[in-house]
Amino acid sequence: MSAANILLDVNGIEVIYNHVILVLKGVSLQVPEGRIVALMGGNGAGKTTTLRAVSNLLESERGAVTKGSIELRGERIEALGTSEMVNRGVIQVMEGRHCFAHLTIEENLMTGAYTRRDGKAAVAATLDKVYTYFPRLKTRRTSQAAYTSGGEQQMCAIGRALMANPKMVLLDEPSMGLAPQIVEEVFEIVKDLNTREGVTFLLAEQNTNMALRYSDYGYILENGRIVMDGAAASLRENEDVKEFYLGTGGSERGGGDRKSFKDAKSYKRRKRWLA
Ligand SMILES: Nc1ncnc2c1ncn2[C@@H]1O[C@H](COP(=O)(O)OP(=O)(O)OP(=O)(O)O)[C@@H](O)[C@H]1O
Ligand SMILES: [Mg+2]
Repeated sequence: MSAANILLDVNGIEVIYNHVILVLKGVSLQVPEGRIVALMGGNGAGKTTTLRAVSNLLESERGAVTKGSIELRGERIEALGTSEMVNRGVIQVMEGRHCFAHLTIEENLMTGAYTRRDGKAAVAATLDKVYTYFPRLKTRRTSQAAYTSGGEQQMCAIGRALMANPKMVLLDEPSMGLAPQIVEEVFEIVKDLNTREGVTFLLAEQNTNMALRYSDYGYILENGRIVMDGAAASLRENEDVKEFYLGTGGSERGGGDRKSFKDAKSYKRRKRWLA
């Protein structure tokens, strides 16, 4: 991958909340243009914090990037505001599907177009496009979001982000709380948007299995540090990933009481990831 293709370059960032809580301890990752990159890891690993650092949503959480740099196409972006990030085509879809409960699906979608300056016709065309990707949303367009299903709300949250015509979507935990076949449906749409519209995704997911099936490249975060990264296909085949994250490998899993790489006894194993 040549440097020219790198859309997002996160370089050794440290993030601290409330001036004292050190959460990210030197995280580096790269997202090439037009790809889907997955950021995986368990509860509290720092996935959401990483996405917030990129989209500049840390300030409202009393958090700050205290070391390292974040570049979008070579431009430093740590000091930009959220709306300046939106103007550069970077949008975050927050964890837990934040739809406006009292608005209809269509009204929710339209709130995503507030930064557009290219006229009503262009916005209407995007809305049509969103409906072709999410036919369920079209069916539910006049329903109040509060009365739609979890899957529909997740679709609405992604659709709203698409209304801004983004280059890159930071998608936080899209599988959360959804039934397996709905998760599958959401990921299929993400993949479609990626291949047909060229939208780049940085995807935070605890669901390693789904994330690795739909992404090109993955990073595994543990306790604020990247412990492993690689092409999705090779991570899927990796014995340690199978054992700790996919729950499919390793004869000595020990009833699931060793859930992290950190707990792995073998130092050699670690060396192998770093090699
Ligand atoms: N606003 C905040 N203030 C203080 N600490 C925070 C804040 N947000 C997150 N943290 C802490 O930072 C750590 C990383 O949290 P983060 O939400 O980034 O993890 P995550 O990987 O997204 O986890 P999950 O899978 O549960 O969403 C956790 O220990 C969490 O308690
Ligand atoms: Mg999270």
